[in-house]
Amino acid sequence: MLPADLREKLERTIETADHPRELAVDVMMALQEHYGHLSDEAVAEAAQLLDMSEVEIDELATFYTFIYREPVGRYVIHVCDSLICWMDGYEKLRDHLARKLNIAMGGTTDDGLFTLLPVCCVGYCDRSPAMLVNRRVHGNLTPEKVDAILDGLRESARSADETSSG
Ligand code: FES
Repeated sequence: MLPADLREKLERTIETADHPRELAVDVMMALQEHYGHLSDEAVAEAAQLLDMSEVEIDELATFYTFIYREPVGRYVIHVCDSLICWMDGYEKLRDHLARKLNIAMGGTTDDGLFTLLPVCCVGYCDRSPAMLVNRRVHGNLTPEKVDAILDGLRESARSADETSSG
């Protein structure tokens, strides 16, 4: 259930819009940030806040690459599969990531750390092949560079967990 302060904040923001549905993506992103993904509960809450139907919210959510209707890992890796990256080694990059993480495209690692998804061109064509990690772009990728990025992310997660557990 949405905390009262977040609900009030969203309601105040929605009140400023000429048409609540203009803010549908912002509301969905805020709910996703709270729940970790856009759960069915979040879809119902977004629909109620925006005075839209759940079907409309679901359709919009499906349309946006960075809105996740299923649970995702702590780090969501989007690998660019558009033309330039594809010509510059997308398949090799995808296969390397899949092997290192032991998941297929669309999957999440058992430890909940990584989800692997495709994405259309992220505007980094001059540094292809490219990928996003939690929407931060990495380019000129090689297997070695990918390994270093994954190691860094694992280390960050470990440090954050140690800090939060006191
Ligand atoms: S085609 Fe991959 S970043 Fe443009």
